[in-house]
Amino acid sequence: MKVINSISEMRALAESARKTGRRIGLIPTMGFLHEGHLSLMRKARKECDAVVVSVFVNPAQFAPNEDFQRYPRDVEGDRKKCDSAGVEVLFMPSAADMYPKDAGVFVTVDGVSDILEGAVRPGHFRGVATVVAKLLNIVKPHAAFFGQKDFQQCVVIKRMVKGLNMDVDIIVFPTIREQDGLAMSSRNGYLNVDERRAAGSLYSALTAGEALLKSGERDPVKLKDAMRAALVKEKGMMIDYIEIADPQSLAPLVKVEARAVMLMAVRLGRTRLIDNILIQ
Ligand code: PAJ
Repeated sequence: MKVINSISEMRALAESARKTGRRIGLIPTMGFLHEGHLSLMRKARKECDAVVVSVFVNPAQFAPNEDFQRYPRDVEGDRKKCDSAGVEVLFMPSAADMYPKDAGVFVTVDGVSDILEGAVRPGHFRGVATVVAKLLNIVKPHAAFFGQKDFQQCVVIKRMVKGLNMDVDIIVFPTIREQDGLAMSSRNGYLNVDERRAAGSLYSALTAGEALLKSGERDPVKLKDAMRAALVKEKGMMIDYIEIADPQSLAPLVKVEARAVMLMAVRLGRTRLIDNILIQ
């Protein structure tokens, strides 16, 4: 496996792979890799000839009061995991190269960036869309792989790709979970023992909502009430939002009829957790 830090070197290597007709898959990550990331790598290996993983803790998607400084990092561990997952190139650019001073260029996806996560984290999706656009421009993959865990992020990226006529397939892969249902996340390590126990209730709440829906309840207000009730109210657990929305527009539903996504975000102590399930 090649480890590349330079943007020009990454660009040149991807260009030559493309010329030989190999299908390139990109998995953008912020590192501290876990089974969720590894599942995307396995999926990409099946669908592509060469897999590129980027590890870049993107300062542009963190607000000043967020955890950019303490975001977990493990370069050596990430390198080993990528290597054993059959990744061809691990791309780890520097912040100085990705964001040259005074560049002042950002990608904004209107409509879906300011609701839900975007309402709680203003500017977050501008940072995500900008870095993903840059990575897609540098690597020029045929396909890029994302986790359903960050459902709204997938919606934002798909819209960006469509809106900017980018020539890449966006492939979304299901959420990988711990035994109690907690969605794997690099941030789960922030949780203390009590918070970790309480964190399992996000998924129980989502599945409780899903079960009620399947039993015939179509009223989002009642479904959301049931999910709220199923969340273990630990001391210090704060609900940022619980929503049932259209999976494409993320507009809140007034009646659940066809496809829907149930989304929630909570704060447990200093840690924010998000999760969702898609109802087909
Ligand atoms: P990060 O949180 O490192 O996640 C990288 C990719 O892994 C994302 O597509 C995310 O949805 C996926 N992922 C994370 N946890 C997962 C899980 N439990 N199951 C399945 N997939 C999972 O998301 C980001 O980084 C950044 O915002 C990024 C897109 C890299 C832009 O900076």
